[in-house]
Amino acid sequence: MQDRVHRYFATTVGLITTDGEHGRNVMAAEWTMQVSYEPMLVAIFIHDSPTLWNIRGSGAFGVNIASDDQAELVNIAGGYSGTEVDKLAIPGTFETYDGKLVPMIKGCALNAECRVRSIRKIGDHVMVVGDAEAAAFDDKKSPLVYTRGNYRRIAGKLSSGRKVVRVAPSTFDAFKQMSGGQFVLKCAAALAEKDGKVLVAKFGRCWMAPAVAVERGQNYEAALSKHLALIGVRADVQGIAKLERLMLKSKGRALRANFVVYRCRAKGGEGRWFARLPRNIVLRSFFEKA
Ligand SMILES: Cc1cc2nc3c(=O)[nH]c(=O)nc-3n(C[C@H](O)[C@H](O)[C@H](O)COP(=O)(O)O)c2cc1C
Repeated sequence: MQDRVHRYFATTVGLITTDGEHGRNVMAAEWTMQVSYEPMLVAIFIHDSPTLWNIRGSGAFGVNIASDDQAELVNIAGGYSGTEVDKLAIPGTFETYDGKLVPMIKGCALNAECRVRSIRKIGDHVMVVGDAEAAAFDDKKSPLVYTRGNYRRIAGKLSSGRKVVRVAPSTFDAFKQMSGGQFVLKCAAALAEKDGKVLVAKFGRCWMAPAVAVERGQNYEAALSKHLALIGVRADVQGIAKLERLMLKSKGRALRANFVVYRCRAKGGEGRWFARLPRNIVLRSFFEKA
């Protein structure tokens, strides 16, 4: 394996605190992450060190996700071993508080006290998974990022890339109903053409490309084929024309909507076909070239 590849991952850095036979200690571990919501489990991947010895003895560890003003603390926690220096006793460095299980570090983006659930050797490190028994976060702190051997700040939030589409309140209600209360409306829509005309379907008081809500895990293409048959249109669903990731908005309300628009070859049957799109059509962009 190329020896520099590992540098191209980007991680946060956990300050892992422990207490036990080898004394109170802190180490830096970039391989720290939450691995289950419920129960909340946190995994750390560490080498054979005083941190691991303490964990084996006490069955507990603290995860303190370093904030971007704690790079120096990370250097100290990662630059010295507990066998060499009592890191937590260096004056003016780590500010700690007593957790229920272990000492914890102040000023971090997140603190979680974990009780060990599983310890397993994996490759050249040891995976320790713990149940988070207590967790707290500080919204004012931003996590430190570690990549390519450097510490970095999170530069800013990227746009979600969703296209904002404002719709009439009644249209919004129709979409909301379609979503069945889901956080994101997932839909398959048909772009069917026949003799220079396009297929549209009634949507509330307007028109729209025929569309059907898709349940989680359901195949979009199959759902659309079924829907077209249901509305009496004979058509082959041919392939994805485009994705439309939208933020539907109406009078202070918002709904995320993910549409997969399929090209369809119509063979007949019923349906409303228009040579020109009607004026009151919603999501007109579906019909525009991608
Ligand atoms: C930014 C950074 C990230 C690190 N990540 C890990 C890690 O994920 N796992 C690991 O075993 N060691 C990691 N280390 C190295 C340990 O922190 C280092 O070996 C430390 O001295 C161990 O502490 P201890 O011997 O007191 O337990 C990292 C070091 C730094 C500086």
